[in-house]
Amino acid sequence: MLEQTLVLIKPDGLKKSLTGNILTRLSETKLEIAGSKIVRVSRELAEKHYRHMKDKPFFEELIKYIMGELHDRKKVMALVYHGENAISLVRKVAGATNPELAEPTSIRGAYGRITTTGVFENIIHASSSKEEAEREIKLWFKPSELVYRIYPVKTVKKQIEELDWA
Ligand code: PPS
Repeated sequence: MLEQTLVLIKPDGLKKSLTGNILTRLSETKLEIAGSKIVRVSRELAEKHYRHMKDKPFFEELIKYIMGELHDRKKVMALVYHGENAISLVRKVAGATNPELAEPTSIRGAYGRITTTGVFENIIHASSSKEEAEREIKLWFKPSELVYRIYPVKTVKKQIEELDWA
């Protein structure tokens, strides 16, 4: 089944200089990268991304983690991977959400940890289902930032101020 999935290399992945290793591991899937960018994560974006975790005791730490407040690296790398069975292929290379339970050779098994307060610092995020992937990709990317039309688009007229090269 042709699918797409959102991957986030989290602030600890960037701080530990793991970007190259992680992209190499992800390239084993032979999936196509449909878009990528470095993002400074706002609280609004973080809370929308993890909206289903709102009632968890570690929610506030989860938000601070993805915003980079725990690692002094206020950015993440966001990527969209596209291809056959993209969701399960990426989740296999990523490993289990809990880094202690992840295969030692998976990305999370090799590089993740659990903090003393019980939060998973698991290096990357990978969408868990087709529905979540669509919600997350639409939250993190505009259609114009992806090289494939993976979801239907519409044209809207907007008058916005934006930065240009001086
Ligand atoms: S999953 O496995 O993708 O379905 O995860 P999900 O249930 O959607 O979201 C769990 C996210 O919360 C992060 N997190 C924790 N989960 C469970 N227990 C603890 N202690 C915990 N600490 C953090 C977990 O890493 C998931 O975020 P992502 O970004 O997907 O890793």
